[in-house]
Amino acid sequence: MTRVLMVCLGNICRSPLAEGILRSKVGEAMLVDSAGTAGYHIGEAPDSRSVAIALENDVDISQQKCRQFVAKDFDRFDIIFAMDASNYQNVLKLARTQKDKSKVRLIMNELYPGENRTVPDPYYGGEDGFGQVYQMLDAAIDAFLEKKEPQRR
Ligand code: 4NP
Repeated sequence: MTRVLMVCLGNICRSPLAEGILRSKVGEAMLVDSAGTAGYHIGEAPDSRSVAIALENDVDISQQKCRQFVAKDFDRFDIIFAMDASNYQNVLKLARTQKDKSKVRLIMNELYPGENRTVPDPYYGGEDGFGQVYQMLDAAIDAFLEKKEPQRR
């Protein structure tokens, strides 16, 4: 079973959405989790704006709990998706081996290979930022699944 970890800075806005979207598409077929590189919000539920945009799309992320990324996650997951360049670098800093490093990807590269696009942090912005983030993640996750299992579509 493929094990996928979604990572952002706070683990309350972007990566909880990415976790919820992927889980809603694959069910129990993959192990899906999320974490933040920072520890500001450990134990908290996702941002209410992420919960709301997910619900609008019939995805329930309200039961998720924020946690911080740890080096052990390299053992527990096969693919680690970072939302932006800063998350990507912060995760790589904790890699212990070349194999660890090889697991880390920028999620938007699934949809736009090699372009190193980022999922913008919506935390300090308005409501529409969350809608944009949702659409970006939904499209990137579809591209990921299409490459991984073309027979699904
Ligand atoms: P996230 O957004 O990385 O998408 O969860 C943020 C959430 C909280 C903070 C920064 C980004 N913060 O500084 O508390």
